[in-house]
Amino acid sequence: MRLAVLFAGLGLTIAGAGLAWANTPVKATMRDWKVDLAGLERMVVFNQGFDPVEMAALAARVSNDAGKLSARIAGGNAKAQDIKSRFQTLAADADALAAATKRDAARPKYEQLRSACVSCHDAYAQ
Ligand code: HEC
Repeated sequence: MRLAVLFAGLGLTIAGAGLAWANTPVKATMRDWKVDLAGLERMVVFNQGFDPVEMAALAARVSNDAGKLSARIAGGNAKAQDIKSRFQTLAADADALAAATKRDAARPKYEQLRSACVSCHDAYAQ
């Protein structure tokens, strides 16, 4: 489903001006996340240049974005609330990854973060 269609159908009450659900901000954020996740995967899964500081910075960026998106969904229908909660889960998973300092510990946290992306896409991005 196109983001424009998805967010148009949510019956959202947007808290704060300037959020265009239907166009670039959400999409641009998703594209940033794709790059961030690729960097995380390279370090955590493929063990190429693992650096806990860089890892935490990438994960914190995802968390921050997800927190902002979830904060902007106020009210709305059940679907809106489901999406809000998925963004909250994503933020929590990214925080958990950011807190890991060793690659062994980071790996399952990375997988969990990744699955939060995939499960929302399975539900809404078909
Ligand atoms: C709460 C739901 C949700 C979560 C969580 C989510 N996405 Fe998405 N994402 C979507 C939807 C819906 C689309 C479909 C966009 C469209 O086709 O208009 C999408 C599209 C995308 C796209 C394609 C954007 C484009 O260029 O059109 C990328 C890349 C992406 N997501 C990456 C991610 C990554 C990486 C994560 C995890 C860090 C993530 N997403 C988490 C809902 C989500």
